[in-house]
Amino acid sequence: MNTIRHETADTYGDSRSGARHGKRPAACTRTFGCQQNEADTERLRGQLSAMGYALTDKPGDADLMLLNTCAVREHAESRAWGHIGELSHWKAARPGRVLVLCGCMAALPENAEKAKRSYPHVDILVEPRNIDRFPDILRSFLRGAKHGRYTDIPQAPDYASGGYDAPRRGAPPRAWMPVISGCDNYCSYCIVPHTRGRERSLPMGGIAAEIAALIEKGYKDFTLLGQNVNSYRDPDGGGGFPELLRRVCENEGDYLVRFMTSHPKDCSPALIEAMAGLKPVAPHLHLPVQSGSDRVLDAMNRGYTAARYLSLLDSARAAMPSLTVTSDIMVGFPGETDGDFEDTLSLTARARFDMLFTFIYSPRAGTPAAQMPDLPREVKQRRFERLLELQNGISHEKHAALEGTVQRVLADGYEPGNDLPLTARTPGGRLARLDGGPEWVGRFARAEITSHTTWNLFGKIIGEG
Ligand code: 5AD
Ligand code: SF4
Repeated sequence: MNTIRHETADTYGDSRSGARHGKRPAACTRTFGCQQNEADTERLRGQLSAMGYALTDKPGDADLMLLNTCAVREHAESRAWGHIGELSHWKAARPGRVLVLCGCMAALPENAEKAKRSYPHVDILVEPRNIDRFPDILRSFLRGAKHGRYTDIPQAPDYASGGYDAPRRGAPPRAWMPVISGCDNYCSYCIVPHTRGRERSLPMGGIAAEIAALIEKGYKDFTLLGQNVNSYRDPDGGGGFPELLRRVCENEGDYLVRFMTSHPKDCSPALIEAMAGLKPVAPHLHLPVQSGSDRVLDAMNRGYTAARYLSLLDSARAAMPSLTVTSDIMVGFPGETDGDFEDTLSLTARARFDMLFTFIYSPRAGTPAAQMPDLPREVKQRRFERLLELQNGISHEKHAALEGTVQRVLADGYEPGNDLPLTARTPGGRLARLDGGPEWVGRFARAEITSHTTWNLFGKIIGEG
C-alpha cells in the first residue's frame, strides 16, 4: 500500500519513509505572476529545504511539485490549469507524489471547487495568507489528512513577523524584499484584495537588518515589494514608506534600492523627496496609471485624475531628472468608450513612459467590474494594439537616445555562447546585453551603449562602475 507518503526531514530516516531508497525526497517549484509571487516561492523553497527536501528543477525527479499561481487575469489562470492538467501524468507515474497549488488561484473558493471536481490530483491548496503555515499543512497532509483547502487554518497573527524564515533566494546580486502584503484599495477590477487580503506591513527593523545581512553576502540590488508598497507602515511605529527608505539606506556599501508597486494616490511629495535625497535609491518609479480617462479612473475606483497623475510625474521628474518611469495600462474596462481610449492614448503620449505594461481587461468573478457588461473582444484587441504601437515608438525613441552614452550598470547574469553574454540592468531597470566576461556578474560597471531594440540595450563593458 502506498498510503504513506514520502516523509519529510523531521521523520526522514524513519523506517516508514516512503522516500525512495533512503534518498532525500525532492521538490520542484514553478512560479507564475508577479514579483511578490517570486518572493513567496523563495520562502516556500526555504521551508521545503528546512523540511529536508532537496530542490530540483526537474519535475521528473520530484516527489513534490509546487505551483505558485496568479489569478490577476483569466489568461494567467488558464495557463496554470493547463500545467496542472499536464501534471496528472506526473502524479500517476509515481505513487505518493504530492501536488501543491499555491498563490492567488488557491485563495479563490471557486478554484478549490474546480480542483476537487476536475483536477483531483491536486493534493493541497495554500493561499498566500497561509504561506507561513505551509510546513504544518504539508506535514498534516503527509500524515494522512485528506485533500483540502486549508483556509480553515486560522490566519497566523504573526504572518508579518514571519517574513524572514530563511527564504531560498536566487544568487546575488538581486534580492526581493517583501515589505507589505495585501491591498486595501479595492480597485473595481482587481482580485488581489480577495486573494491576498488586507494590508500587513513587516517591521522596519527586521527589513533593514535583513538587507544589511544580504549586503554582506554580496547582494546589491534590493526590490522592496508590496502590491501597494507606498502605504507601508511600520507595525512598531517607525513610520511610513519614506522612513523605511531612509532606514534601509543607512546601511553601508554600494547597493541599489528599488520598490514596487507604487499607487499614484500614495505617491507623496515626501516620498519623492526621500527618493531624490537617498543615493542608494534607484531613480525608477513603477507607477501604474491604468487609464487616461477620468471617467474610467473613477469607475475603477483609483482615486486620482489624469491631470493629477501627470502633475505627479512632472514633479518627480523635476526632482530626479534621470528618473525612469514605467506604468501599467489596462484597455477595455467595462464602459470604456472610443473617447475614453483616446484619452488613454493622449496620456501615454504625454507621459512618455520608459516602458509600459499593457493589459486587456479580463473580468474577475467577485469584483464589482465583473457585474458590468464586458466589451467585445475585437474592440479590446484593437485598442490594445493601438496602445502598444504608440508605446513601442516611445520606448524605441527613449532607447535610441541612450545610444553612444555610457551607463552605470549592475551585471546580473552570464550566458556562455551568446555574442553578448552578460546581462545587466541600469539603475532605472533597463535590461542591457553586454560584451564582457563572467567576472563582472554581481559588480557595478560602466557600459557603452552601442545599439538597441524596443526592449533591450546592447553594448560593452568599458570599466569598473
Ligand atoms: N484584467 C486585466 N488586467 C488587470 N490588472 C489587474 N487586474 C486586471 C484585470 N482584471 C492589471 C493592472 C495591474 C497589473 C498588475 O495587472 O494593470 O496594474
Ligand atoms: Fe497575480 Fe496579483 Fe496575485 Fe501577484 S498578487 S500573483 S499579480 S493576482
